[in-house]
Amino acid sequence: MDLPRPKLFDFHGVSMITYFTDNWEAIQNFQARPDDILIATYPKAGTTWVSYILELLYFGQTSPERQTTMPIYERVPFLELTFPNMDSGTDLADQLPTTPRLIKTHYPVQFVPKSFWEQNCRMIYVGRNAKDNLVSYFHFERMNFSQPEPGDWNSYLQRFMEGKMVFGSWYDHVNGWWKKKQTYSNLHYMFYEDLAEDTGREIDKLCSFLGLSPSAEEKTRVMSGVTFDNMKNNAMTNYSTDPSMDFKISSFMRKGKVGDWKNHFTVAQNEEFDEDYKSKMKDQTLQFRTEI
Ligand code: A3P
Repeated sequence: MDLPRPKLFDFHGVSMITYFTDNWEAIQNFQARPDDILIATYPKAGTTWVSYILELLYFGQTSPERQTTMPIYERVPFLELTFPNMDSGTDLADQLPTTPRLIKTHYPVQFVPKSFWEQNCRMIYVGRNAKDNLVSYFHFERMNFSQPEPGDWNSYLQRFMEGKMVFGSWYDHVNGWWKKKQTYSNLHYMFYEDLAEDTGREIDKLCSFLGLSPSAEEKTRVMSGVTFDNMKNNAMTNYSTDPSMDFKISSFMRKGKVGDWKNHFTVAQNEEFDEDYKSKMKDQTLQFRTEI
C-alpha cells in the first residue's frame, strides 16, 4: 500500500477519516428498500461473523457459487466506504443482484441515511465489550494501512477512552444504538459474547427476528460454516484478499475470544479503565460481559 495512513478529524462531532465521509452526500441520499437488512456495529465487534451468518442463512443454498467466488465484503457492502480505485459502498449496494440486500455500516446511529428509517428496514446491531473491542481494534489498526497509525498500546487505550477513534466513541456508539432500540422496533441488538457462548441460540434469535425457519440440517450447515476456524481458513471470509491489510503483522481473524483483554491490560490500566467506564456508562439497562 503506497497511500499514507489517514488522519482523524472531527466530522459532525464524531472522529472520522475521509474514507468514510467523502461519499457523504450519496450515502445520505441512499435509497434503502423495505427488505434491506442493515448490520450495524462499532468496528471489530463481530460484523463479519454476523454478516456471514446472515449470508449463509439467506443465500447459502440458493447461491452456492457466491460462497466460493465473492469475498464477504462484496456480498455485504460497507455502506460508507469510499476507497481510491474501488467501487463505493453505495455503488456496490446498488449493484447487488440478490434480495434481501445485506448492508454493513459502522456509523453511529445518527449518521444512518434516513431512507433506512423511512422504509422501516430491519437492523441488527452487534455490541462487544469495550475491552475486547479495543484490543481487537488496536491489532486491526496495526495491520490495516487504511486506518490511522495506532501508536503504542497505552496511548491507544487513552485515545479509546477519549473517543478519538475512527467512528468515534465506543461509549456513544453502543449507547446511541441501544437508545434507538427503545423507539425503533425493527432493531435486533445482540452481543458478541452471547454469540461466542451459544452460537445456535443466537442464530435462533436472529431467525425469529428475521422470520426465517431453517431446517435443522440448514442450521447445522450454517453453524459449521461460521466457526472461528472455518472462517479463518476461508479465503472468502478471512479478508486475505484485501490489499490494505498486512497479515504478517496480525490476522483479520485474529483470536476470536472473549477475555483476550486480560493479555493486554495492566492492573493499573484496568483500574483506570473501569473507573472511566463507570462514569460514561450510566444506563444500567445496557450491560456487557467481559468474560463468559
Ligand atoms: P479479534 O481481533 O478479537 O480476534 P469485525 O468483523 O467487526 O471487524 O470483528 C472482527 C473480530 O471478530 C475479530 O476479533 C475476529 O477474530 C472476530 N470474529 C470474526 N469471526 C468470528 C467467529 N466466527 N468467531 C469468533 N470471533 C470471530
